[in-house]
Amino acid sequence: MAAARGEFSSRFGFLMAAAGSAVGLGNIWGFPTNAASNGGAAFLFLYLFLAFTLAYPALMAELIIGRHTRSNAVGALRQLAPNPKLAKLGSVVGFAGIATVTLILSFYSIVSGWMLAWLLNSLATIVGWDAASAWLTNDGESRNAIFSVVFMLLTVIVISAGVRDGIEKWASRLMPALIFILVLLIIYVMTLEGAMDGLRAYLVPDFSVALQPGLIISALGQAFFSLSLGVGTMLIYGSYLSSRENLPVIGGLVAMLDTGIAFLAGLLILPSMYVALANGVEIFDASGALVAGPGLIIAVLPALFDTMGSAGVFVAFAFFVLMTIASLTSSISMLEVPVAYVVETFDTQRRKATYFLGIGIALICLLIVYNFATMFDLVVSVTTEYSQPLLGLFFTIFVGWIWKRNGVLQELQKGYAGAEHSFFWKIWPFYIRFVCPIAIAAVYIQLVFF
Ligand code: PFF
Repeated sequence: MAAARGEFSSRFGFLMAAAGSAVGLGNIWGFPTNAASNGGAAFLFLYLFLAFTLAYPALMAELIIGRHTRSNAVGALRQLAPNPKLAKLGSVVGFAGIATVTLILSFYSIVSGWMLAWLLNSLATIVGWDAASAWLTNDGESRNAIFSVVFMLLTVIVISAGVRDGIEKWASRLMPALIFILVLLIIYVMTLEGAMDGLRAYLVPDFSVALQPGLIISALGQAFFSLSLGVGTMLIYGSYLSSRENLPVIGGLVAMLDTGIAFLAGLLILPSMYVALANGVEIFDASGALVAGPGLIIAVLPALFDTMGSAGVFVAFAFFVLMTIASLTSSISMLEVPVAYVVETFDTQRRKATYFLGIGIALICLLIVYNFATMFDLVVSVTTEYSQPLLGLFFTIFVGWIWKRNGVLQELQKGYAGAEHSFFWKIWPFYIRFVCPIAIAAVYIQLVFF
């Protein structure tokens, strides 16, 4: 007999968990600099437009599959299939999602381990442990191995406690803390010299850059990564969502929280970068673009914190707590995908399944850490650039083409009286059948062939 399934106890709990999955490193080290380098507010409008017209409908596809089937990614897609051939396709897509999210979690844990190390570094600096500080900030294999495993352990501890006592409880604590720290940091940075230049770089629109086709496609890719689409995280969270909830509303709130926090992150990152510039820190790379990704977080910003005097260590501490929270609420959603599959397929205890999978993923992390130069970029690019959009495409095909339209409507009507007359139902089926698959395919073709 299958183990009893978990369910989120409240709408707030679900929102924090799903927004926690969506809000991650991507929102903080990718989105803001991408916006500033690509037309400022014009990029913001473009991103918002794509997030709500394409990524939100795709998010709805995953949530609705999950809630209807109340199953893990493989079981869910198999259930929707009307014949054995399509059920096989469902298994392949479901397994590919599980494999992809497992690999994403492996590299994400390494990067999150860096955040933990820098977090401890701010404490070591406060108490004056210089040797520890040097080790924590030096990009060595042993440091990376230890902290990626510690981060995996944190993820495992949360997931082994289950949907309500693990995911919901921790997301409900951590996400408000994240927003609070983010706002405090924004207020502080805005008082510093150079902050207004950063705000200008972030918000003054330049439509000539933002409307280039290549950029539109990359913005769409970013929106998909940001909403954690294509790998079954939103599907599995949807499967723990009560039938009393109105799906289009709740999906809309998740998309709004994700884009809202990405926008707020820009109000912190760009002003910080220009404050750093005013203090003599280099913020542009060799090609003249703003430094993004790990370089921004572990080179530019720490150089800025160093210039802030004694306040700097506390700002650094708050910042790396923020980064660690953003990582952890995303990593738990990733680990839940394979755990739910193992628990439901092999009738294994959640705790056992979680530790077993956690150890397996930690081993993959170590493999990447000790073969960093050859493996890291490869794993990032294969999973997030190639696999994620392709799988997202299949999810929309399952809802738009394989699942009977009447079944979709019936699921939507739960928690949404009169759904059949709504604006959402007039537009969304068309989107999910035609617009989303074509747009995702366009992203894909551009990535693979150009
Ligand atoms: N949405 C996360 C971010 O923006 O950093 C990344 C992510 C989380 C991707 C969960 C995939 C996933 F399953």
